[in-house]
Amino acid sequence: MAHSLTMTITIMCIALMALTPVFSKITNGGYLYPQFYDQSCPQATNIVRSIVAKNVAKDPRMAASLLRLHFHDCFVKGCDASVLLDNGGPRNVVSEKGSVPNNNSARGFEVIDEIKAALETACPQTVSCADILALAARDSTVLAGGPSWEVPVGRRDSLGASLRGSNNNIPAPNNTFQTILTKFKLRGLDIVDLVALSGSHTIGNARCTSFKQRLYGNKGNDQINQLFAQKLRAMCPQSGGDQNLSFLDNMTPMKFDNAYYKNLMESKGVLSSDQILFKDNQETMQLVKEYAANEEMFFQQFAKSMVKMGNISPLTGFRGEIRKTCRSING
Ligand code: HEM
Ligand SMILES: *[C@@H]1O[C@H](CO)[C@@H](O)[C@H](O)[C@H]1NC(C)=O
Ligand SMILES: *[C@@H]1O[C@H](CO)[C@@H](O)[C@H](O)[C@H]1NC(C)=O
Ligand SMILES: *[C@@H]1O[C@H](CO)[C@@H](O)[C@H](O)[C@H]1NC(C)=O
Repeated sequence: MAHSLTMTITIMCIALMALTPVFSKITNGGYLYPQFYDQSCPQATNIVRSIVAKNVAKDPRMAASLLRLHFHDCFVKGCDASVLLDNGGPRNVVSEKGSVPNNNSARGFEVIDEIKAALETACPQTVSCADILALAARDSTVLAGGPSWEVPVGRRDSLGASLRGSNNNIPAPNNTFQTILTKFKLRGLDIVDLVALSGSHTIGNARCTSFKQRLYGNKGNDQINQLFAQKLRAMCPQSGGDQNLSFLDNMTPMKFDNAYYKNLMESKGVLSSDQILFKDNQETMQLVKEYAANEEMFFQQFAKSMVKMGNISPLTGFRGEIRKTCRSING
């Protein structure tokens, strides 16, 4: 009798343990974990990776663009895919795509659409658009030669967007160091995260309009190598050409490595927001030197900081929804 009671309790405990993921999925208060889709959509990570890989093979810059989309998502209302919503739809959304940081700049939306369509076929209304962005950012980093990390998932998608948040929360390339650091701190990120995540600018492009002020009339209060400035002026005339593109890392533009930090030490940062990390803050200067000297250290911190950024105010449990298409909330 006592024996069978022990057995019963043991079995109940095992059953409870097995069910824990299900419970936490329902009651979860902000908790993301890598195994979230293991039962509901085990193919999810492979589907995301293969479609990202196909598109990066076609257009190498796409790795940078997808990485940036996750950042622009997370800094506005948290990592909730608000950045993907188009104007209009059931709740008459005002899209973040028209914000100053995003307009004529954010790209990769078609790739996210392609991933979402494949996931809807494999596992209908299961994998959130916010998680697609987080997974695609990791896969893009790896494809460009950078570090890998396990992506905690279980985010849900927002029911709205914030154009104002997109304009105000995302740092501008001509913001002061203090303004940029404050914008990071407001999202729970610190000075180490700022220096490590800025290392994303080891890949991708910037439009002349994002750094032109530094090339003419000496407007910025940051330094720039004069020969380098001359090269940038060649593609960015004083008037016109605002949409012309420059690499952000002119040493190894397509490779995710630590050349970004080496550039900063030579005053060859493209954006003012890059170069000010090696100007007069002792802590950021020290970190830049460390990452320039030790790529492994940069990679480790980058992976950590990406997970931290990916944890900014996710919608979990019953909050938000799993969108059927990433561009619109469900009708
Ligand atoms: C620290 C503050 C930051 C500022 C001021 C900033 C600003 C910018 C600007 C102005 C551009 C060029 C946009 C254009 O001209 O079209 C850019 C590109 C980019 N940013 Fe940042 N960024 C910051 C942080 C980050 C972070 C945290 C990430 C990712 C984790 C990131 C990833 C990227 C990537 C990958 C590109 C290239 C995108 C492409 O080629 O499509 N940035 N950023
Ligand atoms: C975005 O840029 C385009 C082209 O430069 C411009 O016509 C449009 O008004 C801008 N959109 C917003 C919302 O500012
Ligand atoms: C930053 O650049 C924007 C857009 O070019 C401009 O309107 C603004 O005045 C600049 N801010 C500073 C502090 O230079
Ligand atoms: C940049 O844009 C200007 C004006 O649109 C154009 O004349 C020039 O050729 C472009 N420069 C480069 C290097 O692409």
